[in-house]
Amino acid sequence: MRRYWQKKPLLIRQAIPNVEAPLTRDEFFALADQDEVEARLITHARNKWQLEHGPFAPDELPSLRQRAWTLLVQGVDLHNDRARALLDQFRFVPDARLDDLMISFATDGGGVGPHFDSYDVFLLQVKGKRRWKISAQKDLTLQAGLPLKVLQDFRAEEEWLLEPGDMLYLPPHIAHDGVAEGECMTCSIGFRAPSANELTAQFLYHLAERGESNAPSGALYRDPQQPAVGHPAELPAALVERVGAILAQIKWKEQDVASFLGTYLSEPKPSVVFDPPQKPLNEVRFIGQASKLGLRLDRKTNLLYNRRFFFLNGEETSFEGAKKWLIELADNRSMSAKRFVTLSNESSVTALLHEWYCAGWIQVGELA
Ligand code: SIN
Ligand code: CO
Repeated sequence: MRRYWQKKPLLIRQAIPNVEAPLTRDEFFALADQDEVEARLITHARNKWQLEHGPFAPDELPSLRQRAWTLLVQGVDLHNDRARALLDQFRFVPDARLDDLMISFATDGGGVGPHFDSYDVFLLQVKGKRRWKISAQKDLTLQAGLPLKVLQDFRAEEEWLLEPGDMLYLPPHIAHDGVAEGECMTCSIGFRAPSANELTAQFLYHLAERGESNAPSGALYRDPQQPAVGHPAELPAALVERVGAILAQIKWKEQDVASFLGTYLSEPKPSVVFDPPQKPLNEVRFIGQASKLGLRLDRKTNLLYNRRFFFLNGEETSFEGAKKWLIELADNRSMSAKRFVTLSNESSVTALLHEWYCAGWIQVGELA
């Protein structure tokens, strides 16, 4: 982190020795056939790039004998526990920055073309081989008229052949091009960094929604001095001035920023739907099972916290006596059976956890 994060590329040979692809090829193709999954198919033939959006039935994919196509699925961690577990290995970076695990499958010669991303990424080879070329070039002009981002003039400065377990870290805006050598699978562990514009818009929305902008609340615009006008379409200068004065009173405290970030960053992606248990255990049986098997956050759950609040899937709540357990659960994404037993006589905590279990936000049993 000190030397490379957000600073310069790093190739790590055997970053994860004996790594296994979280899904087999067939499981991956089955995932790309699901409606709620974001899948893209990119083909490159006779110098022409093509992009299609999924879902893809297996017979809609090109043949495995066809060269130079690649299938990419975003957010695999939301659909597969092994993918989630792999993403968890990157929690040396705060969850607030972690975005998703994308997987690409490619046939020989397949790739998405030379491009750059605006976010940090770890490119972990999990099956087969891929040749990566990278460049810190300044010229990031894209080819015009293509359905995907491909650099006009990519000038590779370094190149490596990555084998399973090898990983390449790239900070934002480093040009790169990865081409499969034979069939291969690559995991991209991606990060998020909302733009200043996005943060500003969302924060102001958050303040207004909570009525915490400190602008004279509920005050309506008034204009007792308004004279009769001969130019009714003209925007009155006094109106602009008055509204400017209202906006200038918008104030916030640090806790407002923390509340905004906690709720905003823990908000599930729009496609996320939780699966509550079909026949939920009642609270007593839930406590019994969790005392034997422990608990874990559902792979789709986002749980963040700060000193005063925790933020669960976009909702802010105060700790109410459960602080140390919730902090542990958030940091570990699981709680051992032994640990659960120590809290099982805290009825407010077990009631809360049972509620979360019924909503599908946590599961009984730690991951195998
Ligand atoms: C890929 O896996 O082919 C593309 C990943 C990337 O370059 O961001
Ligand atoms: Co990229």
